[in-house]
Amino acid sequence: MTNAYKVAVLAGDAIGPEIMAQAVRVFDLLNEHRDVSFDLIDAPFGAGAYFEHGKAFPEQTKAICDDADAILKGPVGLSFEESQKIPVEEQAERGAILPLRARFDTFANFRPIYLSKDMAHFSPLKSSVIKDGIDILLIRELVGGLYFGEKERGVSDTGLRFVKETLEYNEDQIRRVLKIAFEQAQQRRGLLHNIHKSNVLMSSVFWNEVLDEVRGDYPDVEVKHMLVDAAATALCLNPGQFDVMVMENMFGDILSDQGGGILGSLGLMPSACIGPEKAYYEPSHGSAPDIAGKNIANPYSMIGSVAMMLEMSFGMKAESEAVWQSMKQVFEEGYSTADLSSGDDAKIIATDEFGDRVMAELARRLA
Ligand code: IPM
Ligand code: MN
Repeated sequence: MTNAYKVAVLAGDAIGPEIMAQAVRVFDLLNEHRDVSFDLIDAPFGAGAYFEHGKAFPEQTKAICDDADAILKGPVGLSFEESQKIPVEEQAERGAILPLRARFDTFANFRPIYLSKDMAHFSPLKSSVIKDGIDILLIRELVGGLYFGEKERGVSDTGLRFVKETLEYNEDQIRRVLKIAFEQAQQRRGLLHNIHKSNVLMSSVFWNEVLDEVRGDYPDVEVKHMLVDAAATALCLNPGQFDVMVMENMFGDILSDQGGGILGSLGLMPSACIGPEKAYYEPSHGSAPDIAGKNIANPYSMIGSVAMMLEMSFGMKAESEAVWQSMKQVFEEGYSTADLSSGDDAKIIATDEFGDRVMAELARRLA
């Protein structure tokens, strides 16, 4: 019997539609070559949705997402100046992304920081540092901490304006993401770096207490503790020491961007946001308004997000692997796009041509 899946497609803003147009071609190929039927439902989301419908996350989009088996989301947001035309609470981050995460409780954010050996030239790090490439899985807690804690602005008794944002977690929120991290570590190298700031923050002391309770269930995983500031340095000096890293929301936001830095571009970072019942998939980067409409953005992060969806939501591991291999192949043949630093001898092609080459390779692998 044919498996039939519904995927909500939120193309987003700026380069979003350009890279999404390439990513959805993977589903077309799968519909053609496999006994599966992916039904794609487009829905407005982000700044464009606000201008058209008055809401960054319109009701119709919520309904489409509720009904979908998985959600594919492109980058959203506009330049700082353009964003100023939107009320603060409807700007894409606060009005769309965070409500999407909250709605589906997508607590476990998988951000692979990965460069194969043949793609190592994208990294700004010396080859003596990265050796055989980079292969780290950063797991970021995504629905707690400062992002979702209570916030307050006001004027104090002494007449000074103040702001207060709280970093809140309960033990269940910490436990569930740690379990995911331990499971991933078990399936990989059996090594988990726990990233925290327990020399200062109570939240980290508590996080580590919960970790000590959880780790008993995973005796085969070695845990290494590292302070978040030290981890920032270590990512540059010796990324090879890491395999799986786990951390709270804000730390993960910052260190995953640094992950993009050591890869050479955030454009090489797809991600998966996994909740108890539903998952959504998105590039880890923003919508790059400065290069929008130029057909130069690399679609790797968006196509990679589809690859992650195939494996994690639909159990299609072989097909997912074929997508990764196809992209790798195109890079190995020396092709790249203008937005990625890729050395002098790269053959620079446009976004859609990059998509053409990946799809040709994928069709060959699926046939
Ligand atoms: C990310 C982004 C988001 C975040 C923003 C756009 C809300 O930077 O996914 O890392 O801070 O989580
Ligand atoms: Mn970020």
